[in-house]
Amino acid sequence: MRKLAASLGQTFLLLTLLALLILQQLQKQPLIDKLQDGLRLATNGLNQTRTAFGILNEPNLLPPSSVSLISVLPSITPAPIQSETQHLRQLTPTLSRAAVVVQAPQVLQIDCEGRVTDHDSFTKAGEYVHSVMNGSDGYLPRLECPPLNASRYLSLSDRTASGQKPRFFFAMNLHQSAHIIPQLLGATIEVIRFLGPEVCVVSVVEGRSTDGTFEILKSLAKQMEYLGVSYFLSCSELQPGGEGMERISTLAELRNRALWPLTQHAHLYDPSSTIIFLNDIAPCAEDLLELIHQRMVLKADMTCGMDWYNLDDGGTFYDSWIGRQMNGETFFEVPQSTSWDYSKNLFWNHETSKSRYSLGRPVQVFSCWNGAVAFTAEPFLEGKIRFRTEAEEECHLGEPVHLAKDLWKLGHGKIAVIPSVNVGYSVHDSGKAKEAHGSVSSVAANESIELSKIDWQRKPPGQIKCLGTWDHPSWEPFELRE
Ligand SMILES: *[C@@H]1O[C@H](CO)[C@@H](O)[C@H](O)[C@H]1NC(C)=O
Ligand SMILES: *[C@@H]1O[C@H](CO)[C@@H](O)[C@H](O)[C@H]1NC(C)=O
Ligand SMILES: *[C@@H]1O[C@H](CO)[C@@H](O)[C@H](O)[C@H]1NC(C)=O
Ligand SMILES: *[C@@H]1O[C@H](CO)[C@@H](O)[C@H](O)[C@H]1NC(C)=O
Repeated sequence: MRKLAASLGQTFLLLTLLALLILQQLQKQPLIDKLQDGLRLATNGLNQTRTAFGILNEPNLLPPSSVSLISVLPSITPAPIQSETQHLRQLTPTLSRAAVVVQAPQVLQIDCEGRVTDHDSFTKAGEYVHSVMNGSDGYLPRLECPPLNASRYLSLSDRTASGQKPRFFFAMNLHQSAHIIPQLLGATIEVIRFLGPEVCVVSVVEGRSTDGTFEILKSLAKQMEYLGVSYFLSCSELQPGGEGMERISTLAELRNRALWPLTQHAHLYDPSSTIIFLNDIAPCAEDLLELIHQRMVLKADMTCGMDWYNLDDGGTFYDSWIGRQMNGETFFEVPQSTSWDYSKNLFWNHETSKSRYSLGRPVQVFSCWNGAVAFTAEPFLEGKIRFRTEAEEECHLGEPVHLAKDLWKLGHGKIAVIPSVNVGYSVHDSGKAKEAHGSVSSVAANESIELSKIDWQRKPPGQIKCLGTWDHPSWEPFELRE
């Protein structure tokens, strides 16, 4: 009996010590590193009234968006999904205490525990950051893009439309992408400035880069703060196709991770939100705005651009494993010999699609991705959908095709390719792609709004081409249950 009491006493003592230790850790409020210090200083320097921030361990403690000035208490509750420690900084909007203004607070979060910053890359990052924020100074390659047609996109920037909750969520997975970051993030920032930083969120998952990608993304946090846009950067060691990692399930997990700031805080977002998911492409700002714009005017659930490679030979459509026409076929014919001879003949056996595409009009498809997409956040906010690999007995397809299947099943089958949005995976290739296949402003200049509309087909193809490997095509039934 005495033994038991003694051991209970010991346990109690240990627990108390542990609690004290945790408290002490929290009191210290460890800042991630010098960058965080820099951020804090920047905030103080900018405006003393903006500095009410704390470090959160629990993302769900985010205050409701209607709170104006808040003091944030540290919490010892672990994050629900992330096992890594959360470093959340809460920045309140610049508001007087009396004002009752509905506005989502700006959040800056870097979740890259253990990621080592390379000193040389960090020093060089400044030039990239400058190029992203301020455009070309001639040193880093940037695409020549036409100025934004503000009147075309005016309705998107309507800030009175639905309060001040975020409505545009920009998601990216980046690996060894330093060469396109000035263009990719530069275009994204231009779009965010146009739409309003307070209604935009940027979420980037970086992985295993050794070319300075991580250091640039980290350095950008401070600029994101000045701009007033919420910014989430996280790091992942996952390697699609790496040892012991099935490629598609890993890609799906990385994409889902980029969506965490949205899926884990659904209540903070406007129900009509759009997710803009971008590959490592070099877009113009008008490409991204056009995808969002067309999603609105067509009332589409998802819009995709067109991505190209092999541009010294006029360009070959890139994302051919993912795209399926409304008859379930690939965008161009791939014979059993796996020859690419017919790759220039897009929408080869679907007449309506072929003719609309040749006129630059949006084309309904079963599935697409093509490097840049804008899609409804609704089923993600409601927790009904996520990126995934095939289930048992299901055809081996890329995660965007599974996404399309799941969207169709949820009644979100209004998916379209926007032929004027042409991108490549380098600044050079994007420039060539626009020359060869058109740009947003060149196509829009001759658009007929009436003829651009899509008469949406509600029924999916009935079967879709299954390409576990290119030389073994087969068909997989796909029907909707009535
Ligand atoms: C800080 O913000 C307040 C409220 O908007 C403003 O009145 C004040 O001038 C600002 N101070 C500085 C140093 O910018
Ligand atoms: C962008 O340009 C402005 C004005 O020239 C300058 O104050 C600012 O520091 C620049 N930003 C970056 C990130 O270089
Ligand atoms: C801008 O967009 C509007 C509306 O789509 C169009 O009427 C106008 O011609 C465009 N302007 C330019 C310079 O492309
Ligand atoms: C403009 O559109 C019309 C009809 O939509 C088409 O016949 C014509 O070829 C287009 N012109 C150009 C330069 O694309």
